[in-house]
Amino acid sequence: MASIYIETFGCQMNEADSQYIADRAAAAGYAVTAHAAEARVVVLNTCTVRENAERRAYGRMAHFRALKAADPDVKLVVCGCLAEQDRERMQQTAPYLDGVFGTSDLTRLGDALEAWRPGFRDDLDLTEERLLVRPLGGQGDCVADAFAHLRAYVNVQRGCSYYCTYCIVPYVRGRFDNRPSADILGEIERALSRGAREITLVGQTVNAYKEPATGADFADLLAAVAALPGLDRLTFLTSHPKDFTPKLARAFGSLPHLQPRFHLPVQCGSDAILRRMNRKYSVAQYREKIALFREQCAEWALTTDLIVAFPGETDDDFGATLALCEEMAFAQAFMFVYSPRRGTPAARWEQIPPVVGNARLRELAATVDHGVRAWHERKRGRVARALVQGPSRKDPLKLAAKTADNVTVVAPRGDLGDAALIERPWLDVRIDDTHTWGCTGEIVATAARFDAPAVPAQYRPTIDLIASR
Ligand code: SAH
Ligand code: SF4
Ligand code: F3S
Repeated sequence: MASIYIETFGCQMNEADSQYIADRAAAAGYAVTAHAAEARVVVLNTCTVRENAERRAYGRMAHFRALKAADPDVKLVVCGCLAEQDRERMQQTAPYLDGVFGTSDLTRLGDALEAWRPGFRDDLDLTEERLLVRPLGGQGDCVADAFAHLRAYVNVQRGCSYYCTYCIVPYVRGRFDNRPSADILGEIERALSRGAREITLVGQTVNAYKEPATGADFADLLAAVAALPGLDRLTFLTSHPKDFTPKLARAFGSLPHLQPRFHLPVQCGSDAILRRMNRKYSVAQYREKIALFREQCAEWALTTDLIVAFPGETDDDFGATLALCEEMAFAQAFMFVYSPRRGTPAARWEQIPPVVGNARLRELAATVDHGVRAWHERKRGRVARALVQGPSRKDPLKLAAKTADNVTVVAPRGDLGDAALIERPWLDVRIDDTHTWGCTGEIVATAARFDAPAVPAQYRPTIDLIASR
């Protein structure tokens, strides 16, 4: 069998697109591999939301060029948001690429994979281990792996029409386009039948969803998905504060399958800056929405995105962001120094020096980490049920998993093999220690479904044997 390697950068939209590419590749007769060096086709799915995402993508392109130099039969393809932004530049400066596919060209990429397939020999020896590499995308700056199919990213809308003044997304992804709910439900049913345990509905402002034919809103969509037979757990990314309604808050409170986490980017704590960002809400309005949310979901994790050093941000504006973070005690926050993007309004405004931005980022991180640590500390001594992700990056003898509120937990793998984990991918982890990045502990049991009974992890009496000698 010929194999394809897909490396994904950026957000949930690229994750969903990589899953589509992997599905098309699998249908055309490719195996999806986690090893670039053995692949006949290498796909780089890129992001351009900040300058370092762009730099990283060009770095990876240069890296993969070496693979192609070693074996000219290898096809090297770039797709995603940077490909959309820099299509012409790439075609000129990187003639070694076999294809540059923008965000609206994915079907053409799928067609190219089909067309190339007969040209490849069936040269990959598919061992049992390779067969476990499912034809699905990976998770966050990652490649496909044995457990990727447990999480399915399902597009509910494409593009964005909000035009925040810092953001490149509307330019590289186009305007809002909501998908018919019948298509969404059909795709979720297919993912569930292939073993998906967690469904993530994805879009740039998912909670602004409107069914094109009926006008049904996002709360209606959540209810329809929650009613699907076989659904294990459901979540969604990303919501916009402007579109958070009392009806949606009630839906959160009433649907038992929802993961207890809500990502609601606030970006900053100053009204003057929010206005210049074109965010369409004030800090007071954000607070009101959170109060509404907390009435229904007192125990959920609230997470956010924050930008520092946006053009015009004063010490007082920044102080207001720090104060808001202390008040909200976010369970997690993704924090960024503002990065000017070509063609966006804020890129033309007077910029704040990077040293100031970096200092503010460090100060903000210290404040945010306080709340994050406190959130993790609540788990100490308890058993948390978490969906397996795969071997821990730092120590392959350990497994990484994500709790329902999206906290990373790491625990020794013991003798749990891939096949056993795919059958029972929910790990009951007793939390022994907490860190800023997540928690560590011991796997005490596993389960097939989030609400299925736990099967105790095998007891290995090493200590007793030694003691009785
Ligand atoms: N649609 C989502 C966010 C998409 S981009 C929303 O509206 O919340 C993800 C995050 O990247 C944003 O929330 C923002 O915090 C950050 N971001 C986007 N453009 C940026 C830029 N030019 N510089 C720094 N951070 C940026
Ligand atoms: Fe970008 Fe704003 Fe759209 Fe989010 S809502 S994708 S930040 S323009
Ligand atoms: Fe990046 Fe495109 Fe998402 S620019 S953040 S991958 S929509």
